[in-house]
Amino acid sequence: MDLKPSNKFYVTTPIYYVNDVPHIGHAYTTIAADILSRYNRLLGKDVFFLTGTDEHGQKVEKAAQERGKTPKEHADLLVGNFRSLWVKLNISNDAFIRTTDAEHIKTVQGLIQLLWDNGEIEKRQYSGWYCTPDERFWTEKDLVDGNCPDCGRAVEQIQEENYFFLMSKYQERLIKYIDDNPSYLLPETRRNEVLGFLKNNTLGDLCISRPKSRLAWGIPFPFDGNFVTYVWFDALVNYFSATRYLAPHAERAGLGDFWWPADHHLVGKDILTTHAVYWSTMLMALKLPLPNNIFAHGWWTVDGKKMSKSVGNVVDPNKMIEKYGADAFRYFLFREVTFGLDGDFSEDALIKRINTELANDLGNLLSRFMTMAEKYFSGAIEIPSGSTTALNPFARECIDAMLSAMNDIPHRHWSNLRFNVILDHIWEIIRAGNNHIAQKEPWKLAKTDIKELKDVMFNLWNALRLTAVSLYSFMPETSEKMWKQLGLKSLVVETKLSLPEGDDKYPGIYEWDWKPDYEIKVLKGEQLFPRIDLTKEIIKEKEPQPMTSEDSLIAIDDFAKVKLKIGKILQAERVPKSKKLIKLQVDTGEQRQIVAGIGHAYAPEELVGKRIAVVTNLQPAKLMGVESNGMLLAATDNEGVLSILTPERDVKEGAVIK
Ligand code: ME8
Ligand code: MG
Repeated sequence: MDLKPSNKFYVTTPIYYVNDVPHIGHAYTTIAADILSRYNRLLGKDVFFLTGTDEHGQKVEKAAQERGKTPKEHADLLVGNFRSLWVKLNISNDAFIRTTDAEHIKTVQGLIQLLWDNGEIEKRQYSGWYCTPDERFWTEKDLVDGNCPDCGRAVEQIQEENYFFLMSKYQERLIKYIDDNPSYLLPETRRNEVLGFLKNNTLGDLCISRPKSRLAWGIPFPFDGNFVTYVWFDALVNYFSATRYLAPHAERAGLGDFWWPADHHLVGKDILTTHAVYWSTMLMALKLPLPNNIFAHGWWTVDGKKMSKSVGNVVDPNKMIEKYGADAFRYFLFREVTFGLDGDFSEDALIKRINTELANDLGNLLSRFMTMAEKYFSGAIEIPSGSTTALNPFARECIDAMLSAMNDIPHRHWSNLRFNVILDHIWEIIRAGNNHIAQKEPWKLAKTDIKELKDVMFNLWNALRLTAVSLYSFMPETSEKMWKQLGLKSLVVETKLSLPEGDDKYPGIYEWDWKPDYEIKVLKGEQLFPRIDLTKEIIKEKEPQPMTSEDSLIAIDDFAKVKLKIGKILQAERVPKSKKLIKLQVDTGEQRQIVAGIGHAYAPEELVGKRIAVVTNLQPAKLMGVESNGMLLAATDNEGVLSILTPERDVKEGAVIK
């Protein structure tokens, strides 16, 4: 393969801190990068999609300390949460960078050395107000009544030496660059914010070292062993360092000149400044080209509230995938909210979209078509030999929608990351398909006009085919499923095979008149998106609420209302069709049946014989139709480790817990 720089596409996500488990916010940025990568791969481009983890600095050091681990042990453990989530979400990243990689560390040190040699870094002594518990410096101006503005505690003045990147001298150049390149920072509102900030403030120099005595967990400064690198300087370099050891053909890339610069850095609005200001000026000082675009998307809240660990409303994407599937979750995030604006996540809204758009519009179109194709022609679809677009208004409608969705010229929906607009256009094809059925009434044609019926069935088949192609980057699994049901072989392979010579050409498979060179026999498969019955299926899982105020305290009498006993598990089996529920026969002095949501953490076999803690005076409930009398006690930690509670000594079943 020829490596044509014009034909490459390089996209990045932020590298996420390993001090936390991934939530929907992290999933969001990563899915966006995946959508862009898949779209560009289908166009035949050489794609490099990079994600990874940010593993140095105070936050990580602290999180590790709290768990009694070294920072590296802690990072090794938590990085797994990100990797496994990306697999479940069908994220097609080409590489995963960790800032503790030896090659990354070498690159960071090399670049600092280069900046030092070129006089872009200075060592300075300065004094400031330091909040020891918060481990943060403040200026005189920041202080509130002489205390830390964050926590209100006393601060002390300390003198320190540090290395500064001379960022201030790039202020004018950066303003000009942003002015001259309207799509460098997107969306436009954010671009204006950054410009406003730069035009109305004096940019300072950036402190890029930390004395080892204060922070040990960082990349050692290359020419001064008393310091480590400031975490943001280290983290931002990842985008460049990955092109030198993780990218395809990295060994041929020399100084990153094949992959660098990136086409898009996707970030949340929280970290736009570090990218737009620090990273841009670092690159200027390094004499490296700036990325083509930095896109700052909006912020997700949950049921109208900020996601936060202490509120306990953090949405675990793993749970959403388990309940609704990766594709429905991916679809929702990009259909619900304009990329760039803030959004609110709620399971109800997700279910609504699944039921109306995925089950009803899309799923029904496919299954109605399949049923008719099998009934009228035993699944055979006759593909007309010539072009069928000219006399066919339905084809015209589908082609127009397809072009609007997929052709970046002239609309620039893809270049400007207008994902929801693209989805709207794809839905025009789907809606046209459903209307076509209503208009043509194939069940009547089956009695009167077989030739016309054949045409209608071919047109619908073709509309579904274009839908599958254009949905692929958003919902890859669903697209391939549709493709197979339509009697085709492989969406990805057949798209590649249909690529014309030369750049800037779209795959032939995007065209209405594309034809497979084999006979088509469709085969109805399982429903793409079964409807979700809101009343039956949603047993809202209550997140544990921390005690935040007096009114969440209870009196001893309230607690006494709960009857707890030791029970012995006699039998255990899974509830059919449920991954989570296990049906238990438990002896608590009397035999009772309990349904417990512990199927992810325990196999039925390992439960039998165990003694557990049981709430015995709960009102009976039905879970997936199975009666449950009581509840067992179990604990789940932040990492999702679940454990049932068992007595420490061999107390007899029926023993009262109080
Ligand atoms: O900032 N809504 O890492 P981080 C939308 N390590 N997106 C969200 C979100 C929310 N509620 N919460 C998080 C860091 N995100 C640094 C980055 S890059 C060189 C270093 C997403 O773990 C969003 O992309 O705090 C945001 O920018 C990122 O996660 C922050 O992740
Ligand atoms: Mg953050």
